[in-house]
Amino acid sequence: MSFICVNCKNSLEIDSEDITCASCSSVYHTVNNTPVLVNDSSFFLSEVFFSIKNHSKNVTHYLQQNKELSKFQADRAEIINRIIAAYQENLLIYDKMLDPIRKYVQADHFQYITLSHDPVVGKELLYLKRDWSYLPECEKELNIIITAVKMLIDKHSDNPENVFFIGSGTGRFAWEFSKLLSATVYCSDLSYRMMYFFNEIVNERPIKLMEINESNIYNIDDSCIPHTIQKTKDSSSGNIIPFISDVRNLPLRSASMDILLSIYFIDVMNVESYIQEIDRVLKPGGLFINLGPVGYPYDNFAHKLLPSEIKKVFTGFDFEIIDEDFVETPYMSSDKHLSTIVHKNWAFVARKRISNTIVSLNSVLGISQPLFVNREFTITNMGETDYRSAFFTKQGFQYENADFMIELLSRIDGTKSLQFILDEIQSEFEIDYDLQDLLNNINSLINIKVLKIS
Ligand SMILES: C[S@@+](CC[C@H](N)C(=O)[O-])C[C@H]1O[C@@H](n2cnc3c(N)ncnc32)[C@H](O)[C@@H]1O
Repeated sequence: MSFICVNCKNSLEIDSEDITCASCSSVYHTVNNTPVLVNDSSFFLSEVFFSIKNHSKNVTHYLQQNKELSKFQADRAEIINRIIAAYQENLLIYDKMLDPIRKYVQADHFQYITLSHDPVVGKELLYLKRDWSYLPECEKELNIIITAVKMLIDKHSDNPENVFFIGSGTGRFAWEFSKLLSATVYCSDLSYRMMYFFNEIVNERPIKLMEINESNIYNIDDSCIPHTIQKTKDSSSGNIIPFISDVRNLPLRSASMDILLSIYFIDVMNVESYIQEIDRVLKPGGLFINLGPVGYPYDNFAHKLLPSEIKKVFTGFDFEIIDEDFVETPYMSSDKHLSTIVHKNWAFVARKRISNTIVSLNSVLGISQPLFVNREFTITNMGETDYRSAFFTKQGFQYENADFMIELLSRIDGTKSLQFILDEIQSEFEIDYDLQDLLNNINSLINIKVLKIS
């Protein structure tokens, strides 16, 4: 397997429920068969717990408001009560979801959790229905996407070995591609809730879901429709490896993936915040394949890049755009709705160039443009310290957990060889690092013209 610790970047063996990094002792919990490979696994799970509880509280408040209103709308009581009952049933799904994480929640985390707006909470039920209900209208939407992406893979790649789905949602696309390709498919999302659904479904634990249509329907019966969500009995997957991770700090080895697939993800956040991770984990010659709208439902408009700007981000990182097309699909369609949203999805393929510049230990490096460093300490009232480090380029590319690189970059002066600098650091700090990873990272900084070989 191709995992690294997201804190120290050394190899990580996924060998037990509570995984400990052999180099820096960071601990990663495994919840529901899914390793949580983020910066602070235990804090993350406390945040998840809090956010699900908060979601339930908000839904309950919303139901209470509608109950109050129903007092003045006696003739609407039936539809209002049906919808309230359906929401309450769905809240049971969220309650059950808390069980696997309860034991990791720490009370003292709660004082540090700020509820950042989590735009997707609640929306995962729409994805759950689209992806695993096997309703004809949902399968139609999925099939158009699967066919278009498969065609792009076949056209531009030969027998990929490792394929990675970023922001893989409830995992149906990853599941299907693990059968269509003879590759190992890595499937990851930052949402515990999405990955929870994937795990329940593949382990054959059906989920009782109420589809709720508050409006845009003709009959009262279409307001609440029960579904039992489960994979079809004859459906088995190929080789698929699920884990929770943040695309901005991936637990994957450098140059380990042949293809990265981004379906309905490019407009979730500005690609400039994770392009360096795409570049790092792809092999030279590897492909980034995108298919999805460019609607940016969640971000500030300052971050809403146009396709032409997204392509520029890739070419700036020494990718070439080798294909581009549009693929129309309905979006979350239901045969009960009185209208359908149609997406004109933007598909493009970017290939990582095989770099000509190869840095070696004898190379003397220079810095071509300013870099900005951010180091942050939080000291808790329990006396613990939480430390984060990152550096940024002037184009806005961001590198997290970058202590070793910051140390190295701060010593580059256009006269010392890389070997000399590494020896200097080693004699002062004795830090473990993976040499190949380090050379890959330096090459990628050379490619984007942050560093140069003097
Ligand atoms: C619009 S959904 C698409 C899901 C899936 N690709 C699909 O098409 O069904 C976007 C997904 O990105 C995930 N996501 C958001 N921020 C993320 C991050 N920083 N790292 C990884 N996944 C993230 C969300 O949890 C959500 O599942």
